Amino acid sequence: MTISGKTRLYGIIADPISHVRAPTLFNPKLAAAGIDAVVVPLHVAPADLPALFAGLRALRNFDGLFVTVPHKTAAAALCDALDDEARMTRAVNAIRRGADGAMRGAMFDGAGFVAGLRADGIEPSGLPAHLVGAGGAAVAIAFALTRAGVARLGLSNRSRAKAEELAARLWASFPGIPVEVTDDPGDARLIVNATSLGLRADDPMPLDPARLVPSAVVADIIMDPAETRLLRAAAARGLKIHHGRHMLDHQARLLAEFLGMAI
Ligand code: ATR
Repeated sequence: MTISGKTRLYGIIADPISHVRAPTLFNPKLAAAGIDAVVVPLHVAPADLPALFAGLRALRNFDGLFVTVPHKTAAAALCDALDDEARMTRAVNAIRRGADGAMRGAMFDGAGFVAGLRADGIEPSGLPAHLVGAGGAAVAIAFALTRAGVARLGLSNRSRAKAEELAARLWASFPGIPVEVTDDPGDARLIVNATSLGLRADDPMPLDPARLVPSAVVADIIMDPAETRLLRAAAARGLKIHHGRHMLDHQARLLAEFLGMAI
């Protein structure tokens, strides 16, 4: 890759920064596609985000940002416009800079999850679904599943009040889809773990697969380990499982499209 005076700039903002994967993931693809653009890591502390945005608005050869922890919510508040999923989740993972300097934010956690399900042969539309979790990732997935037209959505979470708040927000946006806060997945055919339970080998399972109907699909958004205790237990019961990596794989494609990278 040769950087010239015509090279367009993209950044990824994070704090800490050293673990981010966007530069190593996207720069070879840009080079292979013959696109004169580069993705660089931008290490910025939360308190400096407004100053960074002021600078980026003025930077005419800058086209957009990938946004990751801990900036997703604060960056959304600094955008001039937000796409639907970003507005509903109040968070962004990509921002496109328009020619006039306007910053448009978008969130693809939920859309990436749904695209990953579909690519794995699972159509959420019309399925009774149950989601465990009410944190950032869970909120994005809840909105995307509801938007995709699940038949109903059960929500459970350690802190029940957060699940109730999420249910109220879903109800306000999609009044036609029944949402219930419950620990019982009932006859749900799509079960999603969006908690951090499963990251550690000795974590309890977010829900017991023995309670699920035989036609249930069990999805986990945890990527490491690739197969959580929940997924292993579900597979042992003969249930179809859906791994965490699908969400990230499909999100990467959606992010690149949004940022105008034809790769
Ligand atoms: P993320 O943005 O990755 O979703 P988060 O917002 O911190 O991260 O949310 C983590 C989710 O995992 C939450 O649903 C959290 O439950 P609380 O809302 O009660 O905090 C859930 N979670 C984390 N540790 C948990 C544990 N030990 N038992 C049950 N749920 C847990």
